[in-house]
Amino acid sequence: MKPIQVGLLGIGTVGGGTFEVLKRNQEEIQRRAGRGIEVTMVADLDVARAKSIVGANVQVVDDARKVIANPDIDIVVELIGGYGIAKQLVLEAIEAGKHVVTANKALLAVHGTEIFAAAHKKGVMVAFEAAVAGGIPIIKALREGLTANRIQWLAGIINGTTNFILSEMRDKGLTFDDVLKQAQALGYAEADPTFDIEGVDAAHKVTLMSAIAFGVPVQFDKAYVEGITKLEAQDIKYAEQLGYRIKLLGISKRTPAGIELRVHPCLVPAKRLIANVEGAMNAVMVHADAVGTTLYYGKGAGSEPTASAVIADLVDITRLHTADPLNRVPHLAFQPDAMSSLPILPIAQVVTSYYLRLRVADQAGVLAKVTGILANADISIDAVLQREAGEGESHTDLIILTHDCVEAKMNQAIAEMQQLSTVLAPITRIRKEELN
Ligand code: HSE
Repeated sequence: MKPIQVGLLGIGTVGGGTFEVLKRNQEEIQRRAGRGIEVTMVADLDVARAKSIVGANVQVVDDARKVIANPDIDIVVELIGGYGIAKQLVLEAIEAGKHVVTANKALLAVHGTEIFAAAHKKGVMVAFEAAVAGGIPIIKALREGLTANRIQWLAGIINGTTNFILSEMRDKGLTFDDVLKQAQALGYAEADPTFDIEGVDAAHKVTLMSAIAFGVPVQFDKAYVEGITKLEAQDIKYAEQLGYRIKLLGISKRTPAGIELRVHPCLVPAKRLIANVEGAMNAVMVHADAVGTTLYYGKGAGSEPTASAVIADLVDITRLHTADPLNRVPHLAFQPDAMSSLPILPIAQVVTSYYLRLRVADQAGVLAKVTGILANADISIDAVLQREAGEGESHTDLIILTHDCVEAKMNQAIAEMQQLSTVLAPITRIRKEELN
């Protein structure tokens, strides 16, 4: 059978890796897919650079629409990124009857509903393993491997840049700003790292995982997103003294009232495997009723790890493209007419536990007043740590860990504590998850 023909839109880091791995492992991949998979056309604005990567046997153009218009191309791989032209091209490729593979988490988290509906109507596949956690096959695991289960929650370190920064802050006691500058100098962080450090990239990814885990539409606009820019080195140190590490987690949970969908820094018990995921590595924990807790770990970015995910999708499409569309795995794991309308909960309705740090006057009765406010709000305390005041200091830090409570109650309690004349600075609040 003649090889299936692939057109790449963009041949940067991931496109180059995809081309290289397909070439290097072509025999192994063909034995799995049942036929060859060949990149026969590439669109890139830098034609000369693209030609230097793919050689003379691959047609290189500077106009992506020429790839989409080529009747010989079976699968279009979108590696442009962003919501702009990429959205247009993906929709045009679907309309042209092409299957699409994309690593574009932003596009699918924001416009997934429209894109999956268009693909469903046209009977083509849109595959996106590379969009979440790079080389970790988490989409495959959630959508197929765990299909017997009622999934209860998932939590992941799904942004390597921020995990690298947090690891360095903990290891070396450095500030966020210092580590970010170093990471940029070393090329680990983007020149404009906003999407990473503000939690937006992680929120795109957890939005996709949540949709597949619970069978709800992709709803990035309802996700709660908080990054790591305000984290202070002292909180990482205090957390450690209490047996916790701070990680930026993407969390989604099913509750009777709705779905929690949130990204924020989070205390995690140091003894959990996920708390020990360091540097730019990614990991996702999934808790489901039949299997219990599973953990997926690996490289969340980079040329060949991401290419590994792109090619897995190419193989899936190669095997399934002749199948009746109704018998394929649905885009979001659940049949489109069986999606749940469970709402995404606002952050005020989320239930979690908390780490609080209060800068307080070191005088009698302060602790009683603070704990009194928590008791009145029916918030139970799990642990308290007080820094010994330094020589000549008239203030100290009070660290409180609480048990679970609804966020709205905690907001109220923090507002009341902040009014106390003995609370000398804005209160730091970091959410905590036991993940057990
Ligand atoms: N910028 C992402 C990260 C990789 O730092 O993990 C691509 O999603």
